[in-house]
Amino acid sequence: MTTRSTEASGPPSGGQLGPAGIFDMLLAYKNTAVLSAGIELGVFDALAAGATTSSEVAKRQRLDPRGAKLLLNGLAALGLLQPEDHAYRLSAAAEKFLVRGSPSYIGDMAKVMASKWEWEALGKLPEAVRHGGTVTAENAETPDYPYWQDFAAHAGAVAAPTAELMADVLGPWASRREPLHVLDVACGHGLYGYTLARQQPHARIWSLDWPNVLPLARERAIRMGVGDRITTIAGDMFELDLGGPYDVVMITNVLHHFSERRASELLRRAAGSMTDDGRIALVGFTISDAPPAAEAAAHLFSILMLIWTSEGEVHTESAYERMLVGAGFSDVTLHPVPALPLRVIIARRTAAGSSAELVEPPSGLVVEPGSPAQKP
Ligand SMILES: C[S@@+](CC[C@H](N)C(=O)[O-])C[C@H]1O[C@@H](n2cnc3c(N)ncnc32)[C@H](O)[C@@H]1O
Repeated sequence: MTTRSTEASGPPSGGQLGPAGIFDMLLAYKNTAVLSAGIELGVFDALAAGATTSSEVAKRQRLDPRGAKLLLNGLAALGLLQPEDHAYRLSAAAEKFLVRGSPSYIGDMAKVMASKWEWEALGKLPEAVRHGGTVTAENAETPDYPYWQDFAAHAGAVAAPTAELMADVLGPWASRREPLHVLDVACGHGLYGYTLARQQPHARIWSLDWPNVLPLARERAIRMGVGDRITTIAGDMFELDLGGPYDVVMITNVLHHFSERRASELLRRAAGSMTDDGRIALVGFTISDAPPAAEAAAHLFSILMLIWTSEGEVHTESAYERMLVGAGFSDVTLHPVPALPLRVIIARRTAAGSSAELVEPPSGLVVEPGSPAQKP
């Protein structure tokens, strides 16, 4: 696999780990709980107009006065509030990032990064380790899992730089490709496909996901000005007739939900729906030969896959190459995303075997309110 750029990635913290560092790790979940509660209960919004007492915050947000006082002290302990006489004032970071309506508001990421689903599943980590996979009946592989609606609604903001990078990498090739039919498998918020569509006015995007997620993708496509060039496909990516042939198939942040065998199956399905010389575009964490401390985010993400899927884990760079080549792709390139632990992986479809005429997925599976239904 060719790596097209490099990034510095060192251990997350230097030096010897002592008892204080271990205590910090054991206590870290309290920070998550306090911050998430502050966001959920609207504490930062209640303080947006200026310094306010805890009893006033309690009254505005309908909280118990004692509960509010202790929570505000907890938020002050984290540096998110500053005590001032008998009142509390927002810190600069809280004012900028945690007040709803601020242009840089990121509080909704709590629903993605600290969701109740992950929180509850993580409590069962020892059982998942004994079992070797998720022990929760409802998990990331459950059809129409409600968590994916929150993800589609809120994770788009952090996906933007990666989507831009993918569109830039595909751009020179995609601009010469006419037509440019793109399938975004398990699209979620849909940002990867819609970013390419915004850069390539001739692109048309097919966005596939479970039915509960697709309305959120469609709303985003409209907001991004590409709503008239998308079609949504509702259903199971392992079962649906994918239609095609597509010039680009995107599978972003998905393959780590599955074993190498199952991920390969999806890649082969993708290959079967593509034009010769088409491009597959993947995004995900990857693991290299570096020690785990140098790739902490990827290894901790594998823990999430352990508690939340039956066989998922972050795949190694060599596993990605093996899976892609095995599924009929070549010229695999890996592109680190600046300042994020993610990789964009692009490969070329080499094997023949797809028809030249575009076939829509069978009717009944296509959900496309307000979008042209005819073949492009
Ligand atoms: C981690 S999100 C990835 C979303 C988006 N591709 C991204 O990169 O941010 C996983 C998505 O896969 C969808 N999904 C999971 N299993 C699926 C399946 N069997 N068929 C279709 N979609 C599925 C979920 O609904 C969710 O939107």
